[in-house]
Amino acid sequence: MTFVVTEQCIRCKFTDCVAVCPVDCFREGPNFLVIDPETCIDCALCVPECPVDAIFDEHDLPDEMTEYIAINAELAKQWPEISDTKDPLPESGEWADLPDKRQWLITEAEEA
Ligand code: SF4
Ligand code: F3S
Repeated sequence: MTFVVTEQCIRCKFTDCVAVCPVDCFREGPNFLVIDPETCIDCALCVPECPVDAIFDEHDLPDEMTEYIAINAELAKQWPEISDTKDPLPESGEWADLPDKRQWLITEAEEA
């Protein structure tokens, strides 16, 4: 089992989740974080920390978010670890409540 970051994180990256993870599961891309399923110990501590409710138990994912299981697993192999909080992205306030953000996910290492 693992926990999964879903699309509400895209273009926000608040990083409150990172502060509570006891095993440094989070991996950072340009405008999204993922959880490394190989490292996650399913403690659920990160779930209430996310201000936009982006993190789910993989078994409680809304149907439209199931693709994020594979997205987290794949990108976790490519992206570096993040173990400290940082400022959210500048556009986070504007994007926090918007739906359908999948199209804005940047998977490459470089900034947009
Ligand atoms: Fe880390 Fe626990 Fe969240 Fe997994 S469920 S990412 S171990 S805080
Ligand atoms: Fe993303 Fe929420 Fe963490 S916006 S960086 S999953 S606190």
